[in-house]
Amino acid sequence: MHPQLKIADAAGALSEDELRRLEIAYCSHGDTVHYTDAPKFFSGCEGSFMYDASETPFLDLQMWYSAVNFGYRNERLNAAAHRQLDSLPQVASQYLHREKVELAALIAQDAEQKFGHKGRVHFNVGGSQAIEDSLKLVRNYTNGKSLMFAFEGGYHGRTLGASSITSSYRYRRRYGHFGDRAQFIEFPYHFRGPKGMSKEEYGEYCVQKFARLFESEYNGVWDPKAGKSEYAAFYVEPIQGTGGYVIPPMNFFTGIKKVLDDHGILLVVDEIQMGVYRTGKLWSIEHFGVSPDVLVFGKAITNGLNPLSGVWAREEMINPTIFPPGSTHSTFASNPMGTAVALETLTMVGETDFGASVMAKGALFLDGLKTLQKRHAIVGEVDGLGLALRMEICKADGFTPDKATLDWMSDEGMKGDLLVNGKKYGLVLDVGGYHKNVITLAPNLMISNEEIALAIELLDQLLTRAERR
Ligand SMILES: Cc1ncc(COP(=O)(O)O)c(C=O)c1O
Repeated sequence: MHPQLKIADAAGALSEDELRRLEIAYCSHGDTVHYTDAPKFFSGCEGSFMYDASETPFLDLQMWYSAVNFGYRNERLNAAAHRQLDSLPQVASQYLHREKVELAALIAQDAEQKFGHKGRVHFNVGGSQAIEDSLKLVRNYTNGKSLMFAFEGGYHGRTLGASSITSSYRYRRRYGHFGDRAQFIEFPYHFRGPKGMSKEEYGEYCVQKFARLFESEYNGVWDPKAGKSEYAAFYVEPIQGTGGYVIPPMNFFTGIKKVLDDHGILLVVDEIQMGVYRTGKLWSIEHFGVSPDVLVFGKAITNGLNPLSGVWAREEMINPTIFPPGSTHSTFASNPMGTAVALETLTMVGETDFGASVMAKGALFLDGLKTLQKRHAIVGEVDGLGLALRMEICKADGFTPDKATLDWMSDEGMKGDLLVNGKKYGLVLDVGGYHKNVITLAPNLMISNEEIALAIELLDQLLTRAERR
């Protein structure tokens, strides 16, 4: 017999205070971010909203770090999960099920059409795990090369391999080096870039700075005699996620890809956060006119239901001769609950011009953010691509990053006391960016125009409170 919790009320439920006491005593804080001392409890969700125990609606503008792109408890996707639960919820990965095969074929056929290369799809659970799998693919294909390029401000997860190609030393500091740390390359973050350059000029400047590494063997990455680079691949997020939803100039990746192609270096695109229509296209790299060698996805492919992640790679890197059975294996890798929901997700978005609707909503939302920028001196840059939107919170000069004020705003949003038409709301915000002063806005892609207006109104109130505090 395991011990019973003895603190339940008459109905058998624990009070929030008791739960909090148990959380402090028994939950590791290492597996969460724990931004505040007393994170909020939520007990329900629907569409664009989370609900607390008192049924106060909290408009969610981050949607579980962009995992719930199609709204909480999306009826159609939940129904797919229920159907699978009632038919084939479990099956060992060594056997096959229809949904896995159809999903892989759908992703690979779409990629072949868009990127011009035949490829295959490999599944896992969780973004970081898929990044690990992609590292194996790259190392294997390049005869064990373990050095990678990645961007300053890039984030690829917190497993040991993924954190070695993530720019923040903070995620590596305690654990020593278990793999080779990436060489981090400047990303054209124009708002905080050198003055006097247009966005395109700054993009070109970053491309040239990268290209310069290959000009001489003395720059440390290239053997001109052998015509070989010491580096296997460049890991990129087309739009930086955790780095603050930074959107590069549209010509940037064609420049980077040319340098990579000229030196036999692979392009790995991390679509874990920006994929699955966050930017109005299935994969955000589609905006930039280049074809990846490897593409990694996760999060919203199942709308944040049963986790599923994966890797698409070109045939020559992933065919069973070069990457044989068992190269990676995880019990839950191509789990039927995840593959069934992912298949339904892609079927659903394929039935309408989903991308056009995301672009239209994104334009409306960005207009609202621009109005707020005019009204509030503490709003620095606002920008967006599809429904990946950013707002920098700054000092009154509109430029000096102000993390403290944004932290205050996030906590204030959690109080649930913003009033619109006599009704109380809360606001769920995520904080990102090089200086942790960026509201990284990832609303429900099915958000209504009325909810966009509500979001702007609630942000307006929060900004007004922040300026008056
Ligand atoms: C771009 C990117 N890559 C990788 C990851 C890691 O994914 P996961 O948190 O599912 O391990 C994330 C998570 O936020 C991400 O945004």
